Order: sequence, then structure tokens, then C-alpha cells
Amino acid sequence: MKYVKMYKTKFDLLEFISKLPKAELHLHLEGTLEPEMMLEKAKKNGVKLPYNSIEDVKKAYRFKDLQSFLDLYYLGVSSLVDEDDFFDLAYAYFKKASSQNVKRAEVFFDPQAHTRRGIDFSTVIKGIYKAAKKAEDELNVSVGIIMSFLRDMPESSAEETLEQALQYRKWIIGVGLDSKELGNPPSKFERVFKRAREEGFIAVAHAGEEGPAEYVWEAIKLLKVSRIDHGYHILDDPTLTEKVSQEKIPLTTCPLSALKLNHITPLDKFPIKTMLKLGMIPTVNSDDPAYFGGYLNENYYQIAKVLKLSASDLATLAKYSIMASYIQYDKKVDLFNIVDETYCEIF
Ligand code: ADE
Ligand code: ZN
Repeated sequence: MKYVKMYKTKFDLLEFISKLPKAELHLHLEGTLEPEMMLEKAKKNGVKLPYNSIEDVKKAYRFKDLQSFLDLYYLGVSSLVDEDDFFDLAYAYFKKASSQNVKRAEVFFDPQAHTRRGIDFSTVIKGIYKAAKKAEDELNVSVGIIMSFLRDMPESSAEETLEQALQYRKWIIGVGLDSKELGNPPSKFERVFKRAREEGFIAVAHAGEEGPAEYVWEAIKLLKVSRIDHGYHILDDPTLTEKVSQEKIPLTTCPLSALKLNHITPLDKFPIKTMLKLGMIPTVNSDDPAYFGGYLNENYYQIAKVLKLSASDLATLAKYSIMASYIQYDKKVDLFNIVDETYCEIF
């Protein structure tokens, strides 16, 4: 009998990653504002920015830490003013996501980054929602919109934001917590999260990105989140590590973000293999791709290369992203099957 070659020994990494259906669970729409669009919108809206060219903008993208990034991020969003601006921003991202085989995108937006400079909540959400609807109809990307409260603003401002969101209740699946973490623990937002959960929003929060494990405990116990965004400092606390892995609380990790904000350098220290070994549910995400040098596939690719992840690891990570998303069960099963088919194709 003739020898049948069972396994290909090599596979093209980027091609395999591109083919895997994936969910993006940690992406700030404002963090997808590419320098070209920023300058174009600033010109259209008469907004003054301290940049004369795209090169100027890119040169400014060297970050010391989270705050030095946030300063530029909030400056950049000031170029967005009307509903069309928010539509264009969101739709450009959904097109990119679709081209990378992202089948589900759960995207954050920061209402207070706009309302505090005089833009109506309704202007922002209407533009984003229209783009999401069009992406679902025309790009085959399922979308969930999560509104994030800025944790460096008072809880009363988050409560006002929640109030403004209630008339758009059907368009928004959840609430999140972002911006400057250190000094702004989850406990500051216990009441507004309780109210949001009572209104039927799911709850997630950035925790353990730059803040200590204690903030992750608070996010779980006080905010009752069903996912942790980032969560790197969980690993500093063995009891918390055990809890997160036992209870299968998913983590939305962001490799290039952690690298560019100097949370974890070099990239080979990124703890995703450790998390997998410990039975945790890490996922790969892009956070603010216009600022950190890569959308979802680039995040998978960089981390796979540096950590020598196997095809099986990558398929697991794609499955975890689907599992940790808030889409319906039958859709999860369909996407799981496509991951398996894609995996089988390389053998
Ligand atoms: N807002 C946008 N990106 C963020 C991040 N990585 N951490 C906290 N807040 C953010
Ligand atoms: Zn984030």
C-alpha cells in the first residue's frame, strides 16, 4: 500500500489566522481613528489639532504609559463632531473587521469623551448604531455595542450617561469601565453598575491592566462583571487566579496594547500561554488598533510568532473568543464548527 502523507508540517501562519472565524471582544471604536480620518474630520469640523501631517500624528504615537496614550486618544476624538463622523469611524472599523474574518465584534464607545465637549449622546449612538446595522446587513459581521464609563470622572457623570442611554436601550448590550485605572477602583462605580445590571445591561470592566489584582476582585465582587478586560495582574494573586480559572471568567487580553503601553515588554513575556495552561479563558483582541500598530489578525500573528503558538493554540483562542462573546448559543456552535474545519484543512 502506498504511503499516505497525513500531516503537512508547515502552514502559513498569517493565512491560517486570517481564515479562522474570530470574535473581537475588546475594541474601542475611538481607538480605530486612523490619522488620515482624524485630520480629514478635524479640517471638515474646524477643529485645531497640534499636527500638520499624518507623519506628525504617527510621530506622536510613542507612549510612556496608559495616561500618555489617553491624552492623545482624547485629543484625537475631538475631531469627531456629527453623526456622520461617528458613522464613518465605526463603519471603517467594521469593514476592516470583516476583511479579517471577524464574525462578531463587541465594541466599546466612550460617551463621556464626547458629551463633556458638548456633543449629544444621541448624535454618537445614532452614528454608531447605523454603522453597526449596515455591517450586520452588508458585511456579515454581528455587532454588540458596549458603552464604557470613564473611570476618571465622577460616578454621578456615569449615572447621567446611563440615564441618557436608556432611550437607546435596545441598541446597547452592556456597560464597561475604562480610562485611567490607577486611583479609580471599580468600587467607585458600584451603584451605577448595579442600576445598569437591573436595566438588563451586561457588565464588563477594564481591570488589572495597570491596576492591582485587588481591582479585579472588586470588578468581580462589586460590579459583578461577566468578563475582565485585560486582567494581567490577576496572575499576581494565586487565589484570584484560581477563582478566575475555576469560574471560567473570560479575559480580553490585548498583546500589542500591553506592549505599546509598556505594561508587558518585551512581547515574549505576554502571559497567554500561562493563562491557557492554568485553565483560564484568555482571548486575543486589539484595544486601540490605530494607535498600537495592528488590528486583530496582527495581534494574533505577533503573539503567535513570539510565543511559538501552535495551530491548535490558535484555534483554541479563536474558539474562546467566540465562547466568551454574547452571541446566541447556536451561532457559537456554527462558528466553532468553522474553526474546526479550518484547523482540519491544514492537515
Ligand atoms: N481607553 C481606550 N483604551 C484604553 C485602555 N487600554 N485602557 C483604559 N482605557 C482605555
Ligand atoms: Zn481597552
